[in-house]
Amino acid sequence: MDFNSKWIVPILIIGSVFMLVNASSDEDDYQRCEIAVNNWAASQLSQEVKEDKHTLRDLLFFLHIPRTGGRTYFHCFLKKLYSSKLECPRSYDKLRFNPRKAHCRLLVTHDDYSMMTKLPHDKTSVVTILRNPVDRVFSTYEFSIEVAARFLVHPNLTSAMQMAGRLRKKNNVVSTLDIWPWKYLVPWMREDLFSRRDARVSQNLNHVSKDSYNMEDFAMPLLQYINDPIALDIVHNGATFQVAGLTNNSNLAESHEVRMCVQKYHSLGDSVLDVAKRRLDNMLYVGLTEDHKGSATTFAHVVGAQVISQLVGSNSSMDHQANNITEQSYSHAASESQHGQHTSISIDESPSNIPTADGEFRKSEMTVGKLMESYESCIGNLRKSQSQRRITSLKRISPVNYTKEARRQVPESVIEQIISLNRLDMELYKYAKKLFAGQHEQTVQKLVSAVI
Ligand SMILES: *[C@@H]1O[C@H](CO)[C@@H](O)[C@H](O)[C@H]1NC(C)=O
Ligand SMILES: *[C@@H]1O[C@H](CO)[C@@H](O)[C@H](O)[C@H]1NC(C)=O
Ligand SMILES: *[C@@H]1O[C@H](CO)[C@@H](O)[C@H](O)[C@H]1NC(C)=O
Ligand SMILES: *[C@@H]1O[C@H](CO)[C@@H](O)[C@H](O)[C@H]1NC(C)=O
Ligand SMILES: *[C@@H]1O[C@H](CO)[C@@H](O)[C@H](O)[C@H]1NC(C)=O
Repeated sequence: MDFNSKWIVPILIIGSVFMLVNASSDEDDYQRCEIAVNNWAASQLSQEVKEDKHTLRDLLFFLHIPRTGGRTYFHCFLKKLYSSKLECPRSYDKLRFNPRKAHCRLLVTHDDYSMMTKLPHDKTSVVTILRNPVDRVFSTYEFSIEVAARFLVHPNLTSAMQMAGRLRKKNNVVSTLDIWPWKYLVPWMREDLFSRRDARVSQNLNHVSKDSYNMEDFAMPLLQYINDPIALDIVHNGATFQVAGLTNNSNLAESHEVRMCVQKYHSLGDSVLDVAKRRLDNMLYVGLTEDHKGSATTFAHVVGAQVISQLVGSNSSMDHQANNITEQSYSHAASESQHGQHTSISIDESPSNIPTADGEFRKSEMTVGKLMESYESCIGNLRKSQSQRRITSLKRISPVNYTKEARRQVPESVIEQIISLNRLDMELYKYAKKLFAGQHEQTVQKLVSAVI
């Protein structure tokens, strides 16, 4: 027997023992994950209150999923209804969430559903808007780059970052860079845009492809973006994770383990989807970005009408009630910072010429009809200023331009990848469409019977 064959058997044995150990620790890990996810799902489902979900409660929590058009609802509906006094501190960043604020009746935030642990659960109505996941991913990509491109006025990354820091300190405002998920996505793209610009300058590159989503001399191609670990962490299935309370911005410690488990073992995602669907079931309102008109009308009749009667009808008792909710339930340690408190203008996100409610209508004279009227003119202005900002910003990386025609150049394989990376969101969106159809139908019927 030569040396080789003598050792083959033991090596084979050792090898298979290793494989067995590995397999069983994989199995253990899967089981650990399965238990974590199931325990989490069971505890979440047991907290769901169901009764009377159609009635607006004392606090309205607008769970704002990024890039669903929530800003127009905030500026053009909610700010017409709630005075800034009634608005909870902008808690886009949890460090700035000041649970002590009295009188607060409206909370609009990109925080996920775990924010409910800080709110009076049975006195809170939740509303949200969902969007086709493919369009949401496109829009997230475009907005990450759009905001990052604004920094290209600076000669280099260092000076861009210094200037941004100084501006934020000085103006004491909430900037896009403070807001999850932009606080990760924008710096990522900003660094990327600067390095591409530096490379263009030093190598004199100027390759221009026809596809704006794939011009690597100017910006990170979409295909690269969607496959980056950061996007896997916070973009894909983002709506499901946000509604479930499992984003990487979650307030609950156990969320992070559950999220990692679901990202690792995709089959465990179904439990998360179940929780998210149940949450949507219990919301006061679920809108769809795509059905803009129907969503706005339903919002005005379902949410708007109730806010009007709640705030105007109980005019005198309102402040007392508000005080009471806040005192009972926001009893946590207060956050140090007060500056989230004002409806601050973000240097990056909200144009300063947004029409505001105050003074435009006396709240007591508000009706659903007037609300819709003011909404229509408000969104016109908002869109104009948003599109102006976008054009100005994208000029800095021209010829990149995110237009409808450009979108048609994107290969089908990329779209298919987005769909498969967003399996949970695709399902949730389908479900939301069904819910919305039911709710919209009810609204229409109520309107018709009111006329008769
Ligand atoms: C960045 O730009 C600033 C302002 O022009 C300049 O003072 C600084 O030296 C530059 N830094 C680098 C690393 O090029
Ligand atoms: C959230 O995601 C970003 C981007 O991947 C990452 O930098 C950050 O550390 C994550 N936060 C947590 C709490 O996991
Ligand atoms: C609302 O409050 C104002 C001033 O406090 C009062 O004059 C008015 O009568 C109140 N309206 C209702 C409906 O309670
Ligand atoms: C707060 O609520 C309690 C009952 O929950 C009530 O007795 C009290 O008068 C309320 N306070 C105010 C200021 O409305
Ligand atoms: C990008 O497209 C928009 C809409 O088609 C257009 O108004 C804008 O001028 C374009 N920007 C550039 C830099 O070409």
